[in-house]
Amino acid sequence: MTTMNSSRPLALITGASSGIGAGFARRYAREGFDLLLVARSETALQALADEVSAKHSITASVHMADLSDPTDVARLVEVITDHLPRIDHIVNSAGTAPEGDIDRMDPEDLRRMVDINITALSLLSRAAVIRMRDAGSGTIINIASGAGYQPLPHLSAYAASKAYVIRFTEALSEEHRSHGLRIFSVAPGDTDTPMNPGPGKNKRQAHQVVDTAWKAMPTKAPSVVDGRMNSLVATLSTRVFSKHFTLRTAEKMMRPKA
Ligand SMILES: NC(=O)c1ccc[n+]([C@@H]2O[C@H](COP(=O)([O-])OP(=O)(O)OC[C@H]3O[C@@H](n4cnc5c(N)ncnc54)[C@H](OP(=O)(O)O)[C@@H]3O)[C@@H](O)[C@H]2O)c1
Repeated sequence: MTTMNSSRPLALITGASSGIGAGFARRYAREGFDLLLVARSETALQALADEVSAKHSITASVHMADLSDPTDVARLVEVITDHLPRIDHIVNSAGTAPEGDIDRMDPEDLRRMVDINITALSLLSRAAVIRMRDAGSGTIINIASGAGYQPLPHLSAYAASKAYVIRFTEALSEEHRSHGLRIFSVAPGDTDTPMNPGPGKNKRQAHQVVDTAWKAMPTKAPSVVDGRMNSLVATLSTRVFSKHFTLRTAEKMMRPKA
């Protein structure tokens, strides 16, 4: 990690090596933030750091971490707590979405998903909250998913992990509002990234998810959904349709083709 001692604000972004996390990194750089980019892929992180620092005259550093590894998570927590000169924003975008029904899913993939989507996100949020409360300000953006707004048969564990992200973040948002912290979750729907490649109806782009987060920043919303269609689906499934109807419909839609 190169030293960052400028007077510019600093944003730490996990999952910055591709997709939505990389989109956030480009936006923060454009807005004049220094960056600490976190993921496993050193080459991709360094290429992005070189790109944005040359283009926007900011300092971008990289930090390699496997967020399913408790040692790497503890090391990153230490960086947040003790080593960064400041931390103004953190975006927890790292996540995995193993394919398939729970019985067909590799148990190691299942464990890793919980470790990354839930455990690492919680521990990094905790470290950021402590540091930001001391500073009297800060912003935490946790990337959830439209899948987190309802139980999803055939994607049960991933959807539940994102439900955790939404509820956890909403509660933190209220808990720390009076301490000057802005905390919210952003739920993308189908978005064109390496996690979800290929064509799709109403598919969104990573920069649109980032725009949605940016618009939500000055508001008090504890959670936002990206895209009008995705917002409508989240509203219908949580506030309009019965649990039974939502579950049955989702099961049919998500059932693997024979
Ligand atoms: N794309 C969609 O349709 C969609 C929809 C809803 C929600 N989301 C959520 O959006 C977030 C970003 O996903 P994306 O679509 O941008 O996918 P992506 O391009 O595949 O990005 C995932 C990021 O997570 C990082 N990551 C994965 N495993 C990791 C590990 N063990 N340790 C550290 N970092 C790890 C990856 O970096 P390395 O591989 O370099 O480590 C990568 O930077 C995720 O939380 C995802 O659940 C995506």
